[in-house]
Amino acid sequence: MSLQGKRIILGVTGSIAAYKSAHLTRLLIKSGAEVQIIMSASALDFITPLTLATLSKRPVLVQFQKDETGVWNNHVELGLWADLFLVAPISANTIAKFANGLCDNLLTATYLSARCPVMIAPAMDLDMYQHPSLIANLNRLNSFGNMILDAESGELASGLSGQGRMMEPENILIRVNNFFKQKEDFKNKKVLITMGPTQEAIDPVRFISNHSSGKMGVALANAFKDKGAEVFVVSGPISLEVERNRFHWTDVRSAKEMYSAALKIHSMMDICVFAAAVADYAPAEIAPEKIKKSDSELTLKMVKNVDIAFELGKIKKPGQLHVGFALETENEAENAKAKLYKKNFNLIVLNSMKESGAGFQLDTNKVHIYQSIGGSISSEVADKSKIAELIIDQIKLAPIGV
Ligand code: CTP
Repeated sequence: MSLQGKRIILGVTGSIAAYKSAHLTRLLIKSGAEVQIIMSASALDFITPLTLATLSKRPVLVQFQKDETGVWNNHVELGLWADLFLVAPISANTIAKFANGLCDNLLTATYLSARCPVMIAPAMDLDMYQHPSLIANLNRLNSFGNMILDAESGELASGLSGQGRMMEPENILIRVNNFFKQKEDFKNKKVLITMGPTQEAIDPVRFISNHSSGKMGVALANAFKDKGAEVFVVSGPISLEVERNRFHWTDVRSAKEMYSAALKIHSMMDICVFAAAVADYAPAEIAPEKIKKSDSELTLKMVKNVDIAFELGKIKKPGQLHVGFALETENEAENAKAKLYKKNFNLIVLNSMKESGAGFQLDTNKVHIYQSIGGSISSEVADKSKIAELIIDQIKLAPIGV
């Protein structure tokens, strides 16, 4: 596949795998991409800028540069120029800087300025790759929508053997090609995603809610965005760090607010994904003042909340596709299928609370997906971003207008 006309910033950081970035540069250039290389200072210990400049046919950048007005701004221009910001290899140090907003060199400053998608290929020793701080930083970058090319297993520079080798340049090229190809998948499509929990107020300081973290919804929003969709998020209160400006983002609290925000845009949508854990009941009245403790019991009267997916399912137009979620603790398949038809979904994603590695606050999930036209698939326990890809693959298979 051709990368003709694609502009790629290739960041190279200090790792023994930096020698492979010469080969990667060659592959990208041969595919037709324009490649601008930015090296970190420590990458200079591993490969010379002359090699990379010759292969990329452009001067390699390491330092901030002044323009004619004397202002340092090349990182901003670079960030706007690129269609993809690829860093391969990326060291644990640069991962930590990206995850925490440090910008002490041209590469890290360009990362903060970049508006284009970011793809990173970590390379390090196996114990570094397993360290909780590294895992936390990668999860953080993942939640920003950055694509992580998992390190491969094999012999490492330390002489140890395990996971930590940078993905081979040929495989990185495949991922880059797929990235540009997938941007066409949902081009001109509008996608609504409800996510997170709702909070139903009891009084000015208390509410009823649930453990939904919004992680699955965020993974779906990022995956749809990477595939070219215009994504509209209606989110209950979540505490995840998300790059909200990638999306049309509306924050809501209660089921009522979520319903009116979703209803307002529903008719414009091609695809609606109902990933929110909406409270089924809300207190009948919200006490105007904080409820004071008394010696007797407290009884709350609860009334039924609006069922957002059900109501919007009633007004689903031909050509629109609705995706639901089900969380079940018993008769999982049966209950999920009943919801699929009752709420007029095209497909439903069943999370079972009984599966280990699946659930609200986790980074992983295990799902079963049922199509309204029949047929189902089951996933392994996998990262929520991988589950998002699987759900989207099933959405592509679902006939719309049913
Ligand atoms: N849903 C919704 N509005 C509600 C309740 C649920 O939009 N008030 C959506 C959820 O986002 C999900 C699907 O409906 O996509 C199923 O949610 P779930 O809580 O499993 O089902 P309920 O219909 O609430 O049934 P129950 O809680 O009795 O299992």
